[in-house]
Amino acid sequence: MCGIVGYVGSKKATPILIDGLLCLEYRGYDSAGIATIEKDVIKVMKDKGRVNNLYNLDGINDLEGTVGIAHTRWATHGKPSKENSHPHLDNSNTFAVVHNGIIENYSELKDFLSLKRYNFISQTDTEVIPNLIHYHYTNGPESVIEDNYERFLTAVKSAVQDLKGSYAVEVISPLCPDEVIVVRKDSPLVIGKGTDGNYIASDIPAILKYTKDFYLLDDNEFAVVTADKVKFYDNSLTEHNKAIKNIEWDANAAGKDGYEDYMLKEIFEQPTAIRETIGSRFRLGEKCSFDDIEISKEYLSKVNKIYIVACGTAMHAGLTGKTLIEKLCKIPTVVDIASEFRYRDPLIDENTLCIYISQSGETADTIAALKLAKSKGAKTLAISNVIGSSITREADYSIYTHAGPEIAVASTKAYTSQVVLIAILAMYFAEILGTCDEACIEELKADLIDLPSKVEQILDNTDVIKTFANKVYTEKDMFFLGRGTDYNVALEGSLKLKEITYIHSEANAAGELKHGPIALIENGVTVIGIITDEKLVEKSISNIQEVVTRGAKTLIITNQILPNSHFDYVINIPKTPPLISPILSVVPMQLLSYYIAKAKGLDVDKPRNLAKSVTVE
Ligand code: G6P
Repeated sequence: MCGIVGYVGSKKATPILIDGLLCLEYRGYDSAGIATIEKDVIKVMKDKGRVNNLYNLDGINDLEGTVGIAHTRWATHGKPSKENSHPHLDNSNTFAVVHNGIIENYSELKDFLSLKRYNFISQTDTEVIPNLIHYHYTNGPESVIEDNYERFLTAVKSAVQDLKGSYAVEVISPLCPDEVIVVRKDSPLVIGKGTDGNYIASDIPAILKYTKDFYLLDDNEFAVVTADKVKFYDNSLTEHNKAIKNIEWDANAAGKDGYEDYMLKEIFEQPTAIRETIGSRFRLGEKCSFDDIEISKEYLSKVNKIYIVACGTAMHAGLTGKTLIEKLCKIPTVVDIASEFRYRDPLIDENTLCIYISQSGETADTIAALKLAKSKGAKTLAISNVIGSSITREADYSIYTHAGPEIAVASTKAYTSQVVLIAILAMYFAEILGTCDEACIEELKADLIDLPSKVEQILDNTDVIKTFANKVYTEKDMFFLGRGTDYNVALEGSLKLKEITYIHSEANAAGELKHGPIALIENGVTVIGIITDEKLVEKSISNIQEVVTRGAKTLIITNQILPNSHFDYVINIPKTPPLISPILSVVPMQLLSYYIAKAKGLDVDKPRNLAKSVTVE
């Protein structure tokens, strides 16, 4: 949550900063601001509202500075307003700060600083940071340091030592006009090494057009960024070297590429994302390969329980993962929501394998849940889309989906890639353990290879989905029904609908309907049924028939030949085994939500109240 950008170089900073913020709006979009160093002073321009509003601010085009910091906000402390927008200044206008994360002890720090006669303009937790820096710079032991640069860095370090919570912070000051100081703890921050300056961002896509060479800042690590150098320090300010990581993502992948919205583009990128995620993990007739994690048979044979822990869409991918692992590897698997897992003292020991799924790799609850399992002696495996993200750096083993940058808040291609990767992981484990018939695994491999072209077939036939969307977009409630993996994907379909159309919806296991939810079914209500498992067709049809009898309008997504029935709309999708059918059946549901949101005239990519990367707990 909240996006950070920074630049130090030979070019005018403002266009680079605003451009970077526009790429990061998915992290938060209720206010935006920038600060640049203009000769001897800091200029701050900020307001509530979207990043684009910055272009309308008086004087924004007159900023000439080549050093600057910027922020797009997702409000936590204090409502969206100009005062609460970042950057924040200290009382003497000497230090400007942008911050992502939460300072948990901010009211204590505010009391301390108030006693020292510091005033506060905003309701934010962030405003304590520039004032603390000023306090240390002028009153702390560092106030006697003669060299401005050393004194500035030491003051930032002392201020950061006072903070409890999570933070990615950028600081500038006209006292040291050619540098930006950055530091992070539990909030992401990367530094891009460019040819005409250096760039800073909370996420790689924001600066991908300038460089593919990145430094991934570690927790409690400081960096001093100047136009031609980046120096790294540990938390006692001892300097060290850091390796550059080359990121393969294509800069165009972070753009809209002619699509009206990122979400639509990302839905259509799914065939490629699936192909790339399969990559060279397996070939027909050969075993799966995960050289990057090297899990031994000896270790795996001792694993008697697997937890899959994640949030939101990633958790839904985990539900299908559970079915796959239990079926192929015969290891009992529990799926948990990260924010619940953390607080319920889960039964974990060294024979538990904990798998964490996170597109961004930065979700605060998922990171905390991972740390908890490690502390209890379990091995941890991260599945992420972002190389070098926090989760992958914490985990014992990390594997990556190859979905490319996902910008729309509502996740689509990340979900399908996650399910594909877990399917391959489950096959890999089963091959090591010998828990599944080889022919059966071979068949599943062939089915996975066929998936991209099957997704393409669905994407080539969107007419029924559009027609249905235009019929139902004014409704207030919708229900999704399914059994087995169709229920797992129904949960994801329902989440997508809520996220971007604001229509209330529920997903129910079709067999549970009669135990309560059916009381909500009345004439004209919309029910979406998913039927992809041959063995469950009859049972699922009977359940859906129960809502038809009560006057529901029905849309069925199926790969089965259904007997003559009373369904209003049927979307036929290609056949694939139920174990991996969510990868196909989710696509019409993603499109349905998309077209409904468009029919309602909503901002598909930036739904209200949501943020893509939830870095607060
Ligand atoms: C937020 C996003 C969801 C996402 C979830 C988990 O709620 O809006 O789209 O599924 O976070 O994110 P992660 O990056 O951990 O997969």
